Amino acid sequence: MSYAIVYSSPTGNTAMLAQAIREALPSEACRYFGGPDDQALSAERIYVGFWTDKGTCDEQTARFLERLTDQQVFLFGTAGFGGAAAYFDQILGRVKEKLGPAVQVVGTYMCQGKMPPAVRRRYEAMEDSPRRTAMLENFDRAVSHPDEQDLAQLRAALPE
Ligand SMILES: Cc1cc2nc3c(=O)[nH]c(=O)nc-3n(C[C@H](O)[C@H](O)[C@H](O)COP(=O)(O)O)c2cc1C
Repeated sequence: MSYAIVYSSPTGNTAMLAQAIREALPSEACRYFGGPDDQALSAERIYVGFWTDKGTCDEQTARFLERLTDQQVFLFGTAGFGGAAAYFDQILGRVKEKLGPAVQVVGTYMCQGKMPPAVRRRYEAMEDSPRRTAMLENFDRAVSHPDEQDLAQLRAALPE
Protein backbone atom coordinates (compact mmCIF):
# COMPACT_ATOMS: atom_id res chain seq x y z
CA MET A 1 0.00 0.00 0.00
CA SER A 2 1.32 3.45 -0.88
CA TYR A 3 1.80 5.82 2.03
CA ALA A 4 2.96 9.32 2.93
CA ILE A 5 4.30 10.73 6.19
CA VAL A 6 3.32 14.34 6.83
CA TYR A 7 4.29 16.19 9.99
CA SER A 8 4.56 19.60 11.59
CA SER A 9 7.30 20.01 14.20
CA PRO A 10 8.81 23.44 14.96
CA THR A 11 11.01 22.11 17.81
CA GLY A 12 11.74 18.57 16.56
CA ASN A 13 9.72 16.30 18.90
CA THR A 14 7.10 15.22 16.38
CA ALA A 15 9.84 14.90 13.75
CA MET A 16 11.41 12.15 15.91
CA LEU A 17 8.15 10.20 15.70
CA ALA A 18 7.90 10.79 11.94
CA GLN A 19 11.44 9.49 11.48
CA ALA A 20 10.70 6.37 13.56
CA ILE A 21 7.66 5.63 11.37
CA ARG A 22 9.74 6.15 8.24
CA GLU A 23 12.33 3.66 9.47
CA ALA A 24 9.65 1.09 10.31
CA LEU A 25 8.01 1.09 6.86
CA PRO A 26 9.19 -0.18 3.44
CA SER A 27 10.75 2.77 1.62
CA GLU A 28 9.56 1.65 -1.86
CA ALA A 29 5.93 2.42 -1.01
CA CYS A 30 6.66 5.92 0.33
CA ARG A 31 5.12 8.65 -1.84
CA TYR A 32 6.02 11.66 0.31
CA PHE A 33 7.82 12.56 3.55
CA GLY A 34 7.80 16.12 4.89
CA GLY A 35 5.69 19.06 5.99
CA PRO A 36 1.98 19.37 5.14
CA ASP A 37 1.70 19.42 1.34
CA ASP A 38 -0.90 18.33 -1.22
CA GLN A 39 1.74 16.04 -2.79
CA ALA A 40 0.94 13.60 0.04
CA LEU A 41 -2.74 13.33 -0.87
CA SER A 42 -2.27 10.66 -3.58
CA ALA A 43 -1.08 8.05 -1.06
CA GLU A 44 -3.57 5.43 0.11
CA ARG A 45 -2.51 5.81 3.73
CA ILE A 46 -1.21 9.02 5.31
CA TYR A 47 0.60 9.15 8.67
CA VAL A 48 -0.11 12.66 9.97
CA GLY A 49 1.95 14.10 12.83
CA PHE A 50 1.09 17.23 14.81
CA TRP A 51 2.24 19.20 17.82
CA THR A 52 -0.39 20.21 20.35
CA ASP A 53 -1.36 23.87 20.34
CA LYS A 54 -4.06 25.04 22.74
CA GLY A 55 -5.47 21.55 23.21
CA THR A 56 -5.70 20.51 19.56
CA CYS A 57 -3.39 20.02 16.57
CA ASP A 58 -1.37 22.94 15.23
CA GLU A 59 -2.98 25.11 12.56
CA GLN A 60 -0.83 23.86 9.65
CA THR A 61 -1.81 20.24 10.36
CA ALA A 62 -5.47 21.23 10.81
CA ARG A 63 -5.50 22.77 7.34
CA PHE A 64 -3.91 19.65 5.87
CA LEU A 65 -6.36 17.28 7.59
CA GLU A 66 -9.22 19.24 6.04
CA ARG A 67 -7.75 18.43 2.60
CA LEU A 68 -8.08 14.65 3.07
CA THR A 69 -10.91 12.95 1.20
CA ASP A 70 -11.01 9.13 1.42
CA GLN A 71 -7.54 8.12 2.53
CA GLN A 72 -6.64 5.99 5.51
CA VAL A 73 -4.99 8.08 8.23
CA PHE A 74 -2.78 7.30 11.19
CA LEU A 75 -2.64 10.25 13.58
CA PHE A 76 0.41 10.82 15.78
CA GLY A 77 1.34 13.74 17.96
CA THR A 78 3.27 15.17 20.86
CA ALA A 79 2.04 17.36 23.73
CA GLY A 80 3.83 19.19 26.51
CA PHE A 81 1.48 17.75 29.12
CA GLY A 82 1.64 13.98 29.38
CA GLY A 83 0.95 11.17 31.74
CA ALA A 84 -2.83 10.98 31.36
CA ALA A 85 -4.30 8.91 28.53
CA ALA A 86 -7.55 10.84 28.95
CA TYR A 87 -5.77 14.09 28.04
CA PHE A 88 -4.37 12.57 24.84
CA ASP A 89 -7.79 11.10 23.99
CA GLN A 90 -9.37 14.53 24.38
CA ILE A 91 -6.81 16.07 21.99
CA LEU A 92 -7.23 13.23 19.47
CA GLY A 93 -11.00 13.64 19.63
CA ARG A 94 -10.66 17.28 18.63
CA VAL A 95 -8.20 16.43 15.84
CA LYS A 96 -10.52 13.74 14.40
CA GLU A 97 -13.29 16.33 14.12
CA LYS A 98 -11.28 17.94 11.31
CA LEU A 99 -11.60 14.84 9.11
CA GLY A 100 -14.24 14.30 6.47
CA PRO A 101 -16.70 11.38 6.80
CA ALA A 102 -14.94 9.15 4.22
CA VAL A 103 -11.52 9.34 5.89
CA GLN A 104 -10.73 6.17 7.81
CA VAL A 105 -8.63 6.50 11.00
CA VAL A 106 -6.51 3.33 11.20
CA GLY A 107 -4.69 4.20 14.41
CA THR A 108 -3.42 6.91 16.73
CA TYR A 109 -0.44 7.52 19.00
CA MET A 110 0.54 10.38 21.28
CA CYS A 111 3.36 10.97 23.74
CA GLN A 112 4.85 13.82 25.74
CA GLY A 113 7.32 16.22 24.08
CA LYS A 114 9.83 18.51 25.73
CA MET A 115 9.17 22.26 25.82
CA PRO A 116 11.62 25.16 25.32
CA PRO A 117 13.54 26.42 28.42
CA ALA A 118 11.70 29.76 28.19
CA VAL A 119 8.52 27.96 29.29
CA ARG A 120 10.20 26.81 32.51
CA ARG A 121 11.45 30.34 33.19
CA ARG A 122 7.87 31.57 32.81
CA TYR A 123 6.66 29.02 35.37
CA GLU A 124 9.53 29.95 37.72
CA ALA A 125 8.43 33.58 37.65
CA MET A 126 4.93 32.68 38.85
CA GLU A 127 3.88 33.02 42.45
CA ASP A 128 4.31 29.78 44.40
CA SER A 129 1.20 27.60 44.25
CA PRO A 130 0.31 23.91 43.84
CA ARG A 131 -0.42 24.67 40.17
CA ARG A 132 3.03 26.20 39.65
CA THR A 133 4.67 23.16 41.32
CA ALA A 134 2.68 20.78 39.12
CA MET A 135 3.63 22.71 35.99
CA LEU A 136 7.32 22.71 36.93
CA GLU A 137 7.17 18.97 37.66
CA ASN A 138 5.46 18.35 34.32
CA PHE A 139 8.07 20.45 32.50
CA ASP A 140 10.90 18.44 34.07
CA ARG A 141 9.18 15.14 33.25
CA ALA A 142 8.83 16.21 29.62
CA VAL A 143 12.53 17.03 29.17
CA SER A 144 13.55 13.49 28.14
CA HIS A 145 10.61 12.91 25.75
CA PRO A 146 10.10 11.55 23.18
CA ASP A 147 12.43 8.79 24.47
CA GLU A 148 13.27 5.30 23.21
CA GLN A 149 10.28 3.81 25.02
CA ASP A 150 7.92 6.31 23.37
CA LEU A 151 9.30 5.36 19.96
CA ALA A 152 8.96 1.63 20.72
CA GLN A 153 5.32 2.18 21.76
CA LEU A 154 4.74 4.14 18.55
CA ARG A 155 6.15 1.29 16.46
CA ALA A 156 3.89 -1.15 18.33
CA ALA A 157 0.86 1.07 17.60
CA LEU A 158 1.44 1.11 13.83
CA PRO A 159 -1.26 -0.71 11.86
CA GLU A 160 -0.52 -3.67 9.58
C1 LIG B 1 2.38 28.08 21.37
C2 LIG B 1 2.41 26.71 22.01
C3 LIG B 1 1.23 26.18 22.51
C4 LIG B 1 1.23 24.91 23.12
N1 LIG B 1 0.05 24.42 23.61
C5 LIG B 1 0.05 23.21 24.23
C6 LIG B 1 -1.16 22.67 24.74
O1 LIG B 1 -2.25 23.23 24.66
N2 LIG B 1 -1.10 21.46 25.35
C7 LIG B 1 0.07 20.74 25.48
O2 LIG B 1 0.05 19.64 26.05
N3 LIG B 1 1.24 21.23 24.97
C8 LIG B 1 1.25 22.43 24.35
N4 LIG B 1 2.43 22.91 23.83
C9 LIG B 1 3.66 22.08 23.88
C10 LIG B 1 3.98 21.38 22.54
O3 LIG B 1 2.82 20.78 21.98
C11 LIG B 1 5.03 20.27 22.75
O4 LIG B 1 6.22 20.79 23.31
C12 LIG B 1 5.32 19.53 21.43
O5 LIG B 1 6.03 18.34 21.72
C13 LIG B 1 6.12 20.36 20.43
O6 LIG B 1 6.29 19.57 19.28
P1 LIG B 1 7.44 19.82 18.19
O7 LIG B 1 8.79 19.66 18.92
O8 LIG B 1 7.22 18.74 17.20
O9 LIG B 1 7.29 21.19 17.67
C14 LIG B 1 2.45 24.17 23.23
C15 LIG B 1 3.63 24.72 22.70
C16 LIG B 1 3.63 25.98 22.10
C17 LIG B 1 4.93 26.52 21.55
